[in-house]
Amino acid sequence: MTPPTSAAPTAPSVPQLLDRCRDVVRPALTEAVGRLHPWLGEMAAYSFGWCEVGGAPVVASGGKGVRQALAVLGAEAAGAPGRSGVAAAVAVELVHTFSLLHDDIMDGDPTRRRRATVWKVYGTGPAVLAGDALFALAVETLVQAPGGPAGVRLLSAALADVVSGQADDLLFATRPWTGPERVRPEEYRTMAERKTGALLGCALSLGAALGGAPPATVAALERVGRHAGTAFQMVDDVLGIWGDPAVTGKPVHGDLRERKKTYPVLAALDAPVPAARRLAALLESAGAPDEASTRRAAALVEEAGGRTAALAEARRHLAAVERGLDAVPLAGPGGGELRALLGFLVRRDL
Ligand code: IPE
Ligand code: IPE
Ligand code: MG
Ligand code: MG
Repeated sequence: MTPPTSAAPTAPSVPQLLDRCRDVVRPALTEAVGRLHPWLGEMAAYSFGWCEVGGAPVVASGGKGVRQALAVLGAEAAGAPGRSGVAAAVAVELVHTFSLLHDDIMDGDPTRRRRATVWKVYGTGPAVLAGDALFALAVETLVQAPGGPAGVRLLSAALADVVSGQADDLLFATRPWTGPERVRPEEYRTMAERKTGALLGCALSLGAALGGAPPATVAALERVGRHAGTAFQMVDDVLGIWGDPAVTGKPVHGDLRERKKTYPVLAALDAPVPAARRLAALLESAGAPDEASTRRAAALVEEAGGRTAALAEARRHLAAVERGLDAVPLAGPGGGELRALLGFLVRRDL
């Protein structure tokens, strides 16, 4: 963010905005996690960056907090104080963490938020259980809030989508790189909207619903959040190949080393260029991927236009976000901050 150059009041930067929302949500989130079985609570606290393995307090990265911020800003966009969206924020952040605990097991990933994943340090069974506990806690927290019981419907609809998206993601791994059974980029887009977009849409719309927004606004913000989430996943895919490990907390070329069928790779394979054919041959070749073949695959994805296509797709969804926001009445300063946050989702680190 550009530093202020005059005495005129300036909008807060996105990190400041995320911090503000985190401060609003933190007491309720801490209180909720404190209600868990102590062992499961420790795994949750470890995921949130509040403690080390064993429970000693620490300040570590607990994630960007994008979903909780969307819920707070959703309430403010409805003309209510941000605290009206806190139950939504807690619920979506708990569900997000639950989905990450299970996702890291499914993906076999050893690192998350620059630390060992929960399943790596506590074991797979405990990590599954901690995820289940967070899910139950999310529903319990939401149902007790004013307006919460109606909100549970939004949350459960989003969860159904997240689970279908994750199912498609796993199934894509079993399909070939080329030929009629290959995964098409448009199938990937639908999967990404479900696995990532649904929860961002839920965060924003649930916050707005608890803030008293009319149903049409809630529905419109749900679509806005979905577009933002799809864009976010495209950027996540780009970072999964070319992201700076110091920033992402994940290894460079990680998704390619694991031969994940992410959007840049699928778009590259679909391009009618020689680099696409060379990439297909490389990906279909037998043998465990080594460092050199992974680097070469990344270069071919780039040469065949996969990186550019993923970023163009992210920008298309961001344009849909902006059109969507233009079409709904947004109260107070929430509108500007919401636009800033949603824009950040596609611009982070790029
Ligand atoms: C990671 O989400 C999982 C996806 C849906 C792409 P985030 O990038 O928001 O994860 P944290 O919470 O900041 O770690
Ligand atoms: C995560 O998707 C989506 C959910 C947890 C629902 P990914 O598997 O692509 O995200 P990262 O790269 O592990 O964060
Ligand atoms: Mg993953
Ligand atoms: Mg995954």
